[in-house]
Amino acid sequence: MNLTLHVWRQPSPESKGSFVTYEAESVDRHMSFLEMLDVVNGDLIERGEEPIAFDHDCREGICGSCGMVVNGRPHGPWDDTTVCQLHMRAYEDGDEIWIEPWRAAAFPVVKDLMVDRSSFDRIIAAGGYITARTGSPPDANAIPVPKDVSDRAMDAAECIGCGACVAACPNASAMLFTSAKATHLNLMPQGQPERYRRVLDMVLQMEAENFGNCSNHGACEVACPKGISIENIAMLNRDFLTALAGRAD
Ligand code: SF4
Ligand code: FES
Repeated sequence: MNLTLHVWRQPSPESKGSFVTYEAESVDRHMSFLEMLDVVNGDLIERGEEPIAFDHDCREGICGSCGMVVNGRPHGPWDDTTVCQLHMRAYEDGDEIWIEPWRAAAFPVVKDLMVDRSSFDRIIAAGGYITARTGSPPDANAIPVPKDVSDRAMDAAECIGCGACVAACPNASAMLFTSAKATHLNLMPQGQPERYRRVLDMVLQMEAENFGNCSNHGACEVACPKGISIENIAMLNRDFLTALAGRAD
């Protein structure tokens, strides 16, 4: 396949970015999207030009490093799929593809398609931990947890921190991410001692990081490559109100 790529190029956080057009030729349908970019970068390097900067690590959909908006959709056209797991068979010969970074005040562009997501790290640091002694792995199995509760906690724990939810949200809200990171601890017995303090601290940190407010669009849930449910946001809101009412902690 031959494709036309329009890629956001921005040399530094301070500089003004713009789209630059590249022709990607002889693209194999079995390549991943990132492998296609690797080939484009190889050609750029051969020509003495600066390669396109983008984040990646595992390329298996588990680390959360990759992330870019492809034709207006975070992670591209496939449901429940990170952009590193997107393959070029999603496209046809002659297609035009627009590639840009996450757009959010709390995710400033570092370079080209790379954004600074350390705001997520600070939200996790604010409350994403437990202080209860849990012993060794066999000890964890000694604490009975209803199956439906452990399933919901595991589902929330699937969040890989990629930031697609923020990129998809018209308000650039981080509520889906924050709720997933709070819920997987708040549902478990081991997470109860800090439950309400955790919710307060994580939400306050989220607000301090300049993320927008949630207005229930639901675009985050659609964009999430891990299928994180907005039911987690409802639980976070309930716990937040309980914490504010002073009925806990
Ligand atoms: S909730 Fe989904 S979209 Fe948001 S950071 Fe987690 S995995 Fe990514
Ligand atoms: S590179 Fe790890 S999830 Fe895409």
